[in-house]
Amino acid sequence: MSGEWVDWHRQYENGGRGLARRLEAVQGFIRAMLDGAPPGPIRAISLCAGDGRDLLGALAGHPRAEDVRARLVDATPELVDAGRRAALRQGLPAIEFVLADAGITDPFEDAAPADLVLACGIFGNVTNDDIRNTIRHLPELCARDATVVWTRGRFAPDLTPTIRGWFLETGFVELGFIAIPDTTAAVGANRLDTLPAPYRRGIRLFTFLPREERPSVRAQAAPP
Ligand SMILES: C[S@@+](CC[C@H](N)C(=O)[O-])C[C@H]1O[C@@H](n2cnc3c(N)ncnc32)[C@H](O)[C@@H]1O
Repeated sequence: MSGEWVDWHRQYENGGRGLARRLEAVQGFIRAMLDGAPPGPIRAISLCAGDGRDLLGALAGHPRAEDVRARLVDATPELVDAGRRAALRQGLPAIEFVLADAGITDPFEDAAPADLVLACGIFGNVTNDDIRNTIRHLPELCARDATVVWTRGRFAPDLTPTIRGWFLETGFVELGFIAIPDTTAAVGANRLDTLPAPYRRGIRLFTFLPREERPSVRAQAAPP
C-alpha cells in the first residue's frame, strides 16, 4: 500500500510525531466514554477515520464492544479496506467503514445522532474557519450527552486554547485535554452539555487544504 495517508499511518508503527502516544490518549477517552455509557446500543461516528485503529483498539476486549454501532468515514480506499478487514477480524460486524467525503454531513445520515464522535487528524489540515465551522455543527451529529474526541497539534501558533474555547462556546464541557509530552500532539475530549440539534444533510463542515497549505505541514517545514 502507498499514498500520502497510508504513509502517514505508518508513523504509528515507526514512532513518528508521538502518534502512538496520541493514539493511547484517544483510546483512553473512548474507553472512559464506553465505561460510563448507559446499557443499550452505543452509536459512534468517526470523521476521517483512517483505518479506524483508535475505535477498534479501544473496543478490543471492552465489555461494551458488541453494543457499539459505528460508521467510520474516510476518503482513502486502502485505509477503508484495512479498517473493514480489522473489524471483521475482531468479530465486530456493526463497525461499518464507508469510503466518502467526511467533510460534508451526508455520509452520516442514519448514523447520527451519535453518542461518540471522533474528529481526530482533521484540525491540523484545514483552515481555522473550518475548525470553527465544524465545531459549530457538531451538535447536529451528536446525541444527548455525546462525547467528542478531537486532536490538533500544538505547533506555533498554538490554536488549541482557541479550539477549546470554541467547544465551550458551542455548549460542550471539557472532559479532558492531554498534551503529549515532548511532542506537539494533543488530544481533547468534550461532552455536549446542551440539547443536540437536528441532523441535516448537505452541510459542509471542512475541506482539507492542499498539502503545502496545511497548518500541520507548514509547521514541520518552519525553521525551529
Ligand atoms: C491525519 S489522518 C487521521 C486518521 C485517523 N483519524 C487517525 O487519527 O489515525 C487524516 C485522514 O483523513 C482522511 N481524509 C482526508 N480528506 C478526507 C475527506 N475529505 N473525507 C474523508 N477522509 C478524508 C485521510 O484519508 C486520512 O486517513
